[in-house]
Amino acid sequence: MSFNLRNRSLLTLAEIGPAGVDLLLETAHELKRAKAAGTEQPRLRGKEIALLFAKTSTRTRCAFEVAAFDQGAHVSFIGPQDSQLGEKESVKDTARVLGRLYDAIEYRGFEQEVVQTLAAHSGVPVYNGLTNEYHPTQVLADFMTMQEHCRKPLSEVKLAYVGDARFNTADSLLEGAAMMGLDFRIGAPRELWPQAELRERAHALAEQSHARLRVTDSAEEAVEGADFVYTDVWVSMGEPPDAWAQRIPRLLPYQVNHALMRATGNPEARFMHCLPALHNRETALGERIYRQFGLDGVEVTEEVFESPASIVWDQAENRLHTIKALLVATLA
Ligand code: CP
Ligand code: NVA
Repeated sequence: MSFNLRNRSLLTLAEIGPAGVDLLLETAHELKRAKAAGTEQPRLRGKEIALLFAKTSTRTRCAFEVAAFDQGAHVSFIGPQDSQLGEKESVKDTARVLGRLYDAIEYRGFEQEVVQTLAAHSGVPVYNGLTNEYHPTQVLADFMTMQEHCRKPLSEVKLAYVGDARFNTADSLLEGAAMMGLDFRIGAPRELWPQAELRERAHALAEQSHARLRVTDSAEEAVEGADFVYTDVWVSMGEPPDAWAQRIPRLLPYQVNHALMRATGNPEARFMHCLPALHNRETALGERIYRQFGLDGVEVTEEVFESPASIVWDQAENRLHTIKALLVATLA
């Protein structure tokens, strides 16, 4: 029987392997074409999906909802204050309840252990919609977007990530790049490098895929020759607000600005960001950072964010198609 992901969970990219990622990307491209052509077939009629969010979200929540609706499934959105989880009911008990009612569970929150417990006790597929450690559905959309913007296969793509590299998005990019054979560079201060244990695992994966992995504290070295320059917010959800005061001076040399894009030496280099991004003063947080640190645009400047090199809206749209591929591949 051919490879499939039926009834499987997605807690990290590594557990579905390169074949799983390839299958989801292929399915996502097909689903995107079908939606555009008006020929999409609903294959999830009668399926019920719980969307459990212990942190806020725009893209991930909306992508799961629209993906489910397009495919004929129903969802229940359970926000940070909406359930008994945490205060009066354990993860294990919640898993057993939701598993009786739903065909699948998406979870966004803090420790990776929570998605593992949900998967172990619910009896249904569990999707990691972001934990502190990993953001696998984001990276599926990122790979899809790279395929759309670069003629080369993923195994020939040069991807640079600069900024805070010891959190979910960077960690899943490292795992995904190592599995899929990319030339992947991280530019970050040493204290914000991915944990040694993850770096070792990535190097083991790279031995099979022939990925080239480099972690350096030089942003310029990381982006040299890059096809894509990627960054994420410098202080993530769940971190204390006073972290900004330390992160800003440490990470300023890693800001994505025109000079860093030029340092790629590649006029075709594209800018990527999982979003939300602090690129100007048009948000409450952006304004506070401006007042406190005099910075207008943080991890990326407005110039780069709004430049033709920026492909962030394609990335955001592709969250829908890749998450839909995940639902179809695991539930249809
Ligand atoms: N990129 C991403 O996960 O966005 P949200 O936080 O809006 O879901
Ligand atoms: N690292 C960010 C990603 C947001 C999609 C965070 O965890 O807040």
